[in-house]
Amino acid sequence: MAVLRRLLRVPPLQAWASASEGSLATSCLADRCLWDRVHAQQRPSNVPTFDWFFGYEEVQGFLLPLLQESRFACLPRVLDVGCGTSGLCVGLYTQSPHPVDVLGVDFSPVAVAHMNSLLEGGQGQMPLSPGHPKSHLCFRQANALNLVRVAPSGSFQLLLDKGTWDAVARGGPPGAHQMLLECLRVLSPQGTLVQFSDEDPDVRLPYLEQTCQGRTVTVQQLGPFGGITYFAYLVKDIH
Ligand SMILES: C[S@@+](CC[C@H](N)C(=O)[O-])C[C@H]1O[C@@H](n2cnc3c(N)ncnc32)[C@H](O)[C@@H]1O
Repeated sequence: MAVLRRLLRVPPLQAWASASEGSLATSCLADRCLWDRVHAQQRPSNVPTFDWFFGYEEVQGFLLPLLQESRFACLPRVLDVGCGTSGLCVGLYTQSPHPVDVLGVDFSPVAVAHMNSLLEGGQGQMPLSPGHPKSHLCFRQANALNLVRVAPSGSFQLLLDKGTWDAVARGGPPGAHQMLLECLRVLSPQGTLVQFSDEDPDVRLPYLEQTCQGRTVTVQQLGPFGGITYFAYLVKDIH
């Protein structure tokens, strides 16, 4: 349960998260019903999002250079796979000075409904407004193991996965492998897949290098945030 405990050590919402720890500790993190229950938990009224590991602020300096206009011929499309109720998509949409088209997907309808309501100005909040007039944001329900319905092949320039592969991997290697292949399928040729995780490079790098043959795999250390060091695993085309 070391990974789970680290997942849950996310101040300042620790109290909210630990309320679900009992069920999480005995459940499979790849199970949708479990996540529906987690995402339905009450949040403190002034905090509409909940982030695993860390939030947008901690990684905006890492993410924004990946989105710079000069890198892409078209409006860059970003997919946050297993977005949950994280503030990552919201941060990119409301704060990126570069135009960006953001899609957050999660297999939990509870998480997706929450994020759509936040976007549209529910929960007593103002509707979200873009940091750049051309930016766009939406949330859809989808399974990370099969994104065909929401993501044609090669359609995203940046694919973000913060803690989702880690969760899917708890359901066993076949699902984890399928999810990674699906992420690679939807990535554009110039695109970058970023897996944010607390898993040690000794474990994650050999797996990614073996599965993502023909691409470059690098790792960048992040943090420590709340006393914990995280990693960004980047997968991109060799050219
Ligand atoms: C550890 S949480 C991370 C949530 C969010 N990325 C964040 O950083 O706060 C894992 C997320 O993956 C979602 N998830 C798990 N398995 C999934 C699957 N097969 N397809 C889509 N989403 C999935 C869960 O609903 C949950 O929101």
